[in-house]
Parts: sequence; structure tokens; C-alpha cells
Amino acid sequence: MNDLNLKRLHVAIIMDGNGRWAAQRGLPRTAGHRAGIAALRRVVERAPDAGIDCLTLYAFSSDNWKRPRAEVEFIFRLLRIFLRIETAQLSANEVRLEVIGRRDRLPQAVLEAIEKAERATAGGERMHLRVAIDYSSREAIARAAASAIEMLGPNEVSSIDWLGPCLGRALTAESGEVDLLIRTGGEKRLSDFLLWECAYTELVFLERMWPEFDATDLDAALDEFRHRERRFGGVPAVQECSQWPATV
Ligand code: IPE
Ligand code: IPE
Ligand code: MG
Repeated sequence: MNDLNLKRLHVAIIMDGNGRWAAQRGLPRTAGHRAGIAALRRVVERAPDAGIDCLTLYAFSSDNWKRPRAEVEFIFRLLRIFLRIETAQLSANEVRLEVIGRRDRLPQAVLEAIEKAERATAGGERMHLRVAIDYSSREAIARAAASAIEMLGPNEVSSIDWLGPCLGRALTAESGEVDLLIRTGGEKRLSDFLLWECAYTELVFLERMWPEFDATDLDAALDEFRHRERRFGGVPAVQECSQWPATV
């Protein structure tokens, strides 16, 4: 077993394909979102035992406000119900829930459900579950830059050297960089998700629509990840070989 097999991981998932899953079945998009919640539940249940320390799920992007009002309202209703129903289970499984993204545009009832769930699960140490709602990575980076500039003052700001580490700390101090990013639904793009945190992330794109994703798919993606060689700009690790040097 090498270090990759032992390291607890930060995995991020772009849960995409709900609408197409529903359309393929002649159902309204809302049915896809409902089925998507069941997939979310399956994955959260499996993740801690699969070696995941931090799981970041993309639930609603800041660009998703462009969708029809009825769909947006339905998604928020589902998220609220999910939080209400799942909090006890998360807490029992020692999962700490945190919602990332903007909070100032969320409906009041959703905000209250988030705060309640975060308080109730605050002691969870088995896994950190981050759900991205009204999330934009560009916005998060801009916000981190603004607070760094405010903290350091104009003199230090004139040098660029401090900015990278400072932003890195603000964005990854708690959860670390992402080791593996999975996107379901067949698209091969990041859609403004964790742009800084994914600088050296391994990417797995799956054709499978999110409502069909289950624990087996998560295990398979992790297995693929464990067979990848991460070099971070370096050269391949020296392979140990008992046959070397060859005896003649
Ligand atoms: C992802 O599925 C869920 C959200 C963005 C809220 P979509 O709703 O984007 O499903 P497709 O991509 O249209 O199939
Ligand atoms: C990304 O999916 C956002 C979530 C899964 C929450 P989208 O469906 O919104 O992304 P695009 O529009 O295909 O890039
Ligand atoms: Mg989509």
C-alpha cells in the first residue's frame, strides 16, 4: 500500500444531470432533482468508510439563479427538507455539515435550516461535509482577496508574493485542496466550482446522470484515482525494484 491508499481524501462532486435524467423518462425536471437527493444521501452515507475526510458537493451555483423561478423554488424546498430530515442522521454518523457560498440571497427558511443543521452537527469528526449553495468560485476568490488586502494594508499589497499563500490559506486552510473531482452527467467542465482548490486535482468525468450515481460509482472513481500518478509538476517517483541493479 502506498501513501495514496492511506491518505484521507478531499473529494468534490459536481452533481449534474438531474434534468436530463428526468427528460429521458418523460418526467419533469423536478423529478430529477428529487431523485438527485436520494443519490446525495447514498454518497454521504458511503463516503466516510471510503476514506473521504472532506466531501464538497455542488448543489446550486450562483449561475443557477438564471433558471425558471419554479425550478429554483423547488430546489430550495428540497434542500430545506433534506437538511431537516438528514440532520439527525448526519449527527449520528458524526458528519459535520457546512454550507459554503453566499448566504445573503437565500430564502429565510433555507438560511434557518442551514444554521440549525450546522449547529446540530458541529461536533462531527468523522467527515466534513460541505454543500455549496449559491456558490461561485470566482466570487469566493475575489472575496478572499478583498479580505487579505484589508488585513494587510496598502504597503504589503504592492508585492504580489504574499498574495498567493494568503489566498491559499483563506481558501484551503480547513478543507485542504481537492484530491479528486467527480462530475456526473457527461459534461467536461468546472462550471465555476473550486477553481483555486482544484489546481492539481485528479478529474473523473462520468456519463452517468447524478440520480443514478451510487456507492459503487464512488468506489470505482476512488479506485481510478488511486491508480493515477500525481506529480505536482515534478518527475515520477523512483520505482523500487528488487531486480536492480541486475546481477549478471
Ligand atoms: C444538476 O442537474 C442540479 C443543479 C444544477 C441544481 P441539472 O439540473 O443541471 O441537470 P441537467 O444538466 O439539466 O441534466
Ligand atoms: C453545475 O451544473 C452546478 C451544479 C451541479 C449545482 P450546471 O448544470 O449548472 O452547469 P452548466 O450550466 O452545465 O455548466
Ligand atoms: Mg446541468
